[in-house]
Amino acid sequence: MKKHVLFLSLCLGLSLNAKNVSDYKVGEELNDKEGVAYFKELSNRPEQEWPNKNLSINDVPKGKEGDLIRYGIKLLSKTESTLGPYSKLKKTSNEVNCISCHMDNDGNGLPGTKKYVIPFLNVMNNYPRLDIETMKIISLEDRIRGMGGTDSHRFPDNSKEMKAILAYFKWLKSAYGIKDGVKLQGEFFAKMNFPNRPADPVRGKKLFEENCVACHGERGLGVKNANYEKGTGHLYPSLLIYPDGGHMAMIPFLARFLKSAMPFGASADNPILSDGDALDIAAYVNTGFVRMPITTTENRAGLDTAYSKSPSLKPEYFASPQQNLDPKEYIKVKYGPWKNPNYFPGE
Ligand code: HEC
Ligand code: HEC
Repeated sequence: MKKHVLFLSLCLGLSLNAKNVSDYKVGEELNDKEGVAYFKELSNRPEQEWPNKNLSINDVPKGKEGDLIRYGIKLLSKTESTLGPYSKLKKTSNEVNCISCHMDNDGNGLPGTKKYVIPFLNVMNNYPRLDIETMKIISLEDRIRGMGGTDSHRFPDNSKEMKAILAYFKWLKSAYGIKDGVKLQGEFFAKMNFPNRPADPVRGKKLFEENCVACHGERGLGVKNANYEKGTGHLYPSLLIYPDGGHMAMIPFLARFLKSAMPFGASADNPILSDGDALDIAAYVNTGFVRMPITTTENRAGLDTAYSKSPSLKPEYFASPQQNLDPKEYIKVKYGPWKNPNYFPGE
């Protein structure tokens, strides 16, 4: 009996001390244990169903606010020509459009509206949020800057471009009827049934040639538009835009993206690749080409320190050559099989 009382008071004590997600302020740093509690609370939010609405860019309201929203849509869709390193504004350094990963739905012209392809519908509920790389609470503006590349000082909170992107995110939330404080079914990536074997990049190479080369090219470099140096961007994006050690470089992570998104025309409800094919193609895309090494936000020039402050949150499939793993261990972590390949903090 005594034992039970003690246990109960311990629980009460813990819950009294624990901070809620909304108690944290932008800039605050969390430790490993607080990070675990933080993401547990996030994944326990009530879930809203994916909205059954077919909106398009024509549904954006007329007038001044509508113009700002449309500008935001343009920045996310034609990022290379508007914000990119060859554009006039030069606010981002990555040579890719945001919509290349945050895809629209069946050509509706609204970036981030494709189910299970990292949609933007619930972004307003997801931020501010704990950034696992630095273990600090970051604002949505910080996240947007981080996605653009290294030139963040050129893209301040009060710039017209940042305001336009935020106006679009706010409009998405209300237009699709997303409630406050929910997590959304169909956000992030769909879960997959991973085969219980290591990912096979040799098989993946063959499948890549059959399914992907037509658009992304034999070397994964995509296709540039004519007059590329004048900011015309890519017709088909390069697959080498994310660094080795970045999110998309984690094989199960990319596999889950491909399952709902690629080859172009696939969707979560009508995938084209089988789970095993998506896994093997992801293995080839992520290890068959030479990529830029990862450099973390706080330590751009140095070693990869991702997850060093949050060992309990680190996905078991996070492999970075910069973290000096022994080669055998590296191969195991990189190619699996993994116990929980569908895990990602906060999902
Ligand atoms: C190579 C693919 C890729 C490109 C290009 C890309 N993103 Fe992302 N983005 C991701 C992935 C993967 C995530 C989810 C992982 C995460 O949140 O850390 C994400 C997450 C986000 C989120 C948070 C979404 C949420 O609800 O939690 C925002 C906002 C975002 N990206 C904005 C942008 C913007 C703006 C651009 C263009 C400047 C961009 N992204 C370009 C892959 C990409
Ligand atoms: C018919 C052309 C086509 C085919 C085939 C195709 N893709 Fe894509 N892919 C695209 C386009 C277009 C985008 C950008 C999405 C957008 O703008 O809506 C894209 C985006 C991507 C992205 C995210 C952006 C980036 O550059 O990293 C990845 C990864 C990707 N494709 C991988 C693949 C893989 C792997 C295959 C084969 C299984 C494949 N694609 C087949 C056209 C294609």
